Amino acid sequence: MAEKELLLTIKQMAASRPAFLLSEVLPSLDTPLPIHELIRSISSHLPAMGLVAKKTGDDFEISRITPVQPYFLNHEENKRQDAFFAAGMIPGLLAQSIERYITKKTGKEWSDPVIIQRLRRAIVAQKDDYWKPAHKRSLHYTKGYSVLGYLAYHFPVYFMQTQHLLTMLARDGLLKKNMRILDVGTGPGVVPLAIADFYTRLDDARATIWSLERSEEHIEAFIDLRNAFVPKGGRVSIKPPLKTDIRTIDCTALPGTFDLIIFSNVLNELVDDAKDIRSDIVTHLSERLAPDGSILIIEPADEENATRMRALSIALLKKGLSIFGPCSFIWGSTCTAPHCWSFETAPAIRLTRLMETLAHCEDSYRFVNIDIKYSYAVLRKDTLKRGSYSLSAGSRFLRFSKLHLHVGKRINVAGVKMSCELGDARSHVFKLCDGTAKTPVYAVLPSYHITPENDMITSAPYGSVLELRNVLVRYNREHDAYNLLVSRNTHISLINPRKK
Ligand SMILES: C[S@@+](CC[C@H](N)C(=O)[O-])C[C@H]1O[C@@H](n2cnc3c(N)ncnc32)[C@H](O)[C@@H]1O
Repeated sequence: MAEKELLLTIKQMAASRPAFLLSEVLPSLDTPLPIHELIRSISSHLPAMGLVAKKTGDDFEISRITPVQPYFLNHEENKRQDAFFAAGMIPGLLAQSIERYITKKTGKEWSDPVIIQRLRRAIVAQKDDYWKPAHKRSLHYTKGYSVLGYLAYHFPVYFMQTQHLLTMLARDGLLKKNMRILDVGTGPGVVPLAIADFYTRLDDARATIWSLERSEEHIEAFIDLRNAFVPKGGRVSIKPPLKTDIRTIDCTALPGTFDLIIFSNVLNELVDDAKDIRSDIVTHLSERLAPDGSILIIEPADEENATRMRALSIALLKKGLSIFGPCSFIWGSTCTAPHCWSFETAPAIRLTRLMETLAHCEDSYRFVNIDIKYSYAVLRKDTLKRGSYSLSAGSRFLRFSKLHLHVGKRINVAGVKMSCELGDARSHVFKLCDGTAKTPVYAVLPSYHITPENDMITSAPYGSVLELRNVLVRYNREHDAYNLLVSRNTHISLINPRKK
């Protein structure tokens, strides 16, 4: 029996009963198969069918996934989170723990001019390395100062960025009351420590966090900061990182399955000039994703990494994972991510005392890192999406792939807002995508055309679906892009607003 028919049989049996044994499928097979081979061939397809397999003796019970109640932030929790973002700074205890760790590692006060100068050198070296072609980088974090430089320069912004992403996951209904989380390439524990801090503003949610890291120096920093910042016996438990290389990890070394697997700023370090192994690593680790779990991939927003990130999410789609957001293929077709540069932003953070001290020099701008910009994707094994909005052939909207036939005409379109403000106060510009475009598409709104009917485009969050009625199509030869001119007569509505 072909795999397709086998899956159909399983689907039919699941539709008629809440649970059944896999061995019950055996009589319908043309060639008998041992149960262990049968389960191997179907297990990756089960979550997308809303099913889960549980071992019972030599057999497997197949049943429907019981949906877990999402943990939405209540009014008070949202208020606390908003107040945290308004303050825009990493917790004082954590900032002091980083300073103290630098003092401990160097044997001198962190603010000693010699130490500050060495930190500056480490930061400059790390940044120079980052801008080299990916396969020529040497980001190994084997030397103490490279990790100390990371703590001083990258940690605060990535810590706050993670908090924005956790808030997004909560508002998308992707957090549970009890979470098992795996952080891949954890470095000095930026993501686990941010999760621990985020949970202090929740009423009664709990999380256990495991992590993977290959650098001894990062692991040492992580354990030190965890011990100083995360109370023992609290609602968040952070296990010591597993020292491993994620390119060769044996998943049996991991405890159970995870509700959330995070890859934050790690996959871009694994680009090899010969072979792109990123999607293999993600799919390999996704073996340990719970059937209703989420994978969060975050990469820097620069053009090279952000476009690679979009191409990676399409590669993962082809390997059987589904995209929850920010992309939404509203016409049902899958895009090919033709050089798609898209990223999210959040308000800048406040300088830490350490960063302020580092920036007390001639080239101060080189040591100030406060802007939050990132490219992300949320992937799933099931078919859950951020929005269920879809269009079909008969709808009164034009696909972006047909814009070239309508230059100079007024049309209706629907698409996902895939950028923050790219224009200025005189002319607002936002990237749009409907999953069909081969050429970039932008909505352009001159400020003198803003009306209550069209200004939704300026306030809608990144990743939300918009309908735009009566926009004028223009071709921008210089940038090989299509501009959709929004005027006083344009009506824009927000579909599937994300929870606030
Ligand atoms: C830029 S840091 C990101 C740290 C943290 N996730 C964050 O967002 O700040 C990348 C981390 O991935 C780790 N890493 C890179 N390649 C790895 C590999 N093959 N196996 C395990 N860890 C790896 C590095 O050692 C480093 O700590």
